Amino acid sequence: VGRSVAFYQDALGIPLLFAQDVIHGWRTVFPVPLAEAASFNPAAVEGAARIAAVEASGYGIHWTFAPMVDVARDPRWGRVVEGAGEDPHLGSVMAAARVRGFQGTDLSAANTLLATPKHFAAYGAAEGGRDYNTADVSERTLWEVYLPPFEAAVAAGAGSIMAGFNDIGGTPAHGSRWLLTDVLRGRWGFKGLVVSDWTGVEELLRHGIAATREEAAVRALEAGVDIEMSSDLYRTDLPAAVRAGRVTSALIDSAVLRVLRAKQALGLFEDPYRYSDTTRERRVTLTPEHRAAARALAREAIVLLKNQTRPSGAPTLPLPKNLGSIAVIGTLAVDSASALGSWSGAGRSEDVITLLEGVRRAAGARTRVLHTRGAPVDTIDARGFADAERLARTADAVVLVLGERADMSAEAASRASLELPGAQLALAQRVVRAARAVNPDKPIVALLMNGRPLALQWLADSVPAVLETWFLGVEHGNAAADVLFGDYSPSGRLPVTFPRVTGQVPIHYGHRPTGRPPAENEHYTSKYIDVSWTPLWPFGYGLSYTSFAYVNLQLSADSARAADSIVVAVEVTNTGPRQGDEVVQLYIHDDAASVARPVRALKGFRRITLRAGERQKVEFTLRADDLALYDRTMRKVVEPGTFTVFVGGSSEGGLEGQFRVSGDTLVVAAAPPRLQ
Ligand code: BGC
Repeated sequence: VGRSVAFYQDALGIPLLFAQDVIHGWRTVFPVPLAEAASFNPAAVEGAARIAAVEASGYGIHWTFAPMVDVARDPRWGRVVEGAGEDPHLGSVMAAARVRGFQGTDLSAANTLLATPKHFAAYGAAEGGRDYNTADVSERTLWEVYLPPFEAAVAAGAGSIMAGFNDIGGTPAHGSRWLLTDVLRGRWGFKGLVVSDWTGVEELLRHGIAATREEAAVRALEAGVDIEMSSDLYRTDLPAAVRAGRVTSALIDSAVLRVLRAKQALGLFEDPYRYSDTTRERRVTLTPEHRAAARALAREAIVLLKNQTRPSGAPTLPLPKNLGSIAVIGTLAVDSASALGSWSGAGRSEDVITLLEGVRRAAGARTRVLHTRGAPVDTIDARGFADAERLARTADAVVLVLGERADMSAEAASRASLELPGAQLALAQRVVRAARAVNPDKPIVALLMNGRPLALQWLADSVPAVLETWFLGVEHGNAAADVLFGDYSPSGRLPVTFPRVTGQVPIHYGHRPTGRPPAENEHYTSKYIDVSWTPLWPFGYGLSYTSFAYVNLQLSADSARAADSIVVAVEVTNTGPRQGDEVVQLYIHDDAASVARPVRALKGFRRITLRAGERQKVEFTLRADDLALYDRTMRKVVEPGTFTVFVGGSSEGGLEGQFRVSGDTLVVAAAPPRLQ
């Protein structure tokens, strides 16, 4: 980019703002956001956003359209890959971490980016999982599920926010004064700027809530959209609207002022070039330290879903490094573009360590690593099966790389079926049969690369080990190999539920109990007649190469007033053979309240590292805000009564305790402005 004054400032000397989607890294591409969330490591996720800001700001970018903080409970929606999954608490923690990472502590520093939580709001509730579709969510679900990550991002100081393409029950976000002004500015005190999503202002015409371009522009401006990103209705139609008195110039002034303030906060009035520094860019781009951070986070994002003991008694994973040969089967094993994921920024294919390369680097010098594609990712083509079967028979271990290409999730990439695409399931069946026929003890691993939960019942039943690697960025292959060969014990946890079949979605752990909770032997309960109601793998789930035991769950009090806090303590011991990380999770259930509460709600989590045999006490503090619910009048309150606490390594099982909140109902916050 040339340093021409005209290019950086307009005639009045107003500096220009350069914006870009810097989502999960810039040149050093980190794991996709869903994978980052699987790390349950907000400090590392903040660090990744910091590195992305350092690299992208050197390139001249001021403003990123990230983080995406949309809760997603329907994985048919392709953009599930861009967020932190299904849970409002995990989503809020990750949202705040990313905002802090991008913006740093001082926005005027040359290595920070203005952050943009998006897409405000409930974009992830798209009906049928079809992108851009209507979200018909209740006011309660908005406040309980979809709004909290935005509120957390605003509280963390986010300087801008992006409206969603969707409508909520007939009101498109770009035309919703309730959302963009009453909630955002009124309730949350947001002072930053609101940007449209691409042509979101013009789309008010197609939503059918404006008859003319001018009407659409006025509606969006009045709702609270300050900047129109890509369509040009503001530029072409607002001048006439002002002249005719159909919109006040004061409204335009306040939108303009917010834009100027953002430029001021970024320090651009002092020096419009401060972010464009080719020397700094070269110095900070794809450094060994950045790569190391990407590898560390990538390893923590990998989730071990299954690890069966082989007939000989050894676990399937990790693979020994002294195998004679390993067959790596799958197209995705060499797909560097997919490893980069959905928003690869300035990432380059040549920077990527593919899965195959990672295995080659990590395997012992005498191990032959053989590769064949087996089948394309999403077309039915069995021509490569015979070759794959031959390798599966001859090699000492099989790593079957299965899943989706990166362009099969993300924007406008909804899928009606969550099953493995193309001929991959048939390939897996043939390969497993071929390998077993020669040697029933042969280690076979299904290694997944995908941007959404998939329905993998057959793999779960029939392949001895299953490893979820998502799309891990430039260090994909190294991180996956670290786990495959046991240099790192897997520690990631699912940020989203995996269904058995597509028809179970939306399926998530934080559902309400219903009046007829599912029960195996009771017909008239809430379940299916053709498939279990349970997920294949639940939220929070993930295995390790070591094991952990939980004992001594202690609550600081059996009974407390609503305003008091309760400390929940537990002791976690590494009972297995080696060091490993455990993600300790705290859930609560309000046993009887004025409105039905989720069977469990995550309220805290902590990633801890324990050596073999080591024990650690972990404490969580539950405060009024954690116990609160929106009552029937939408006040945020803590109601007296009993609460159950669950502490463990997943959203299922764990230790249980109980405490009572005594005294009167505590009002934590008055009712928000009612949905309009
Ligand atoms: C997406 C946004 C993105 C914008 C700019 C839109 O289509 O929905 O998430 O920030 O494009 O690239």
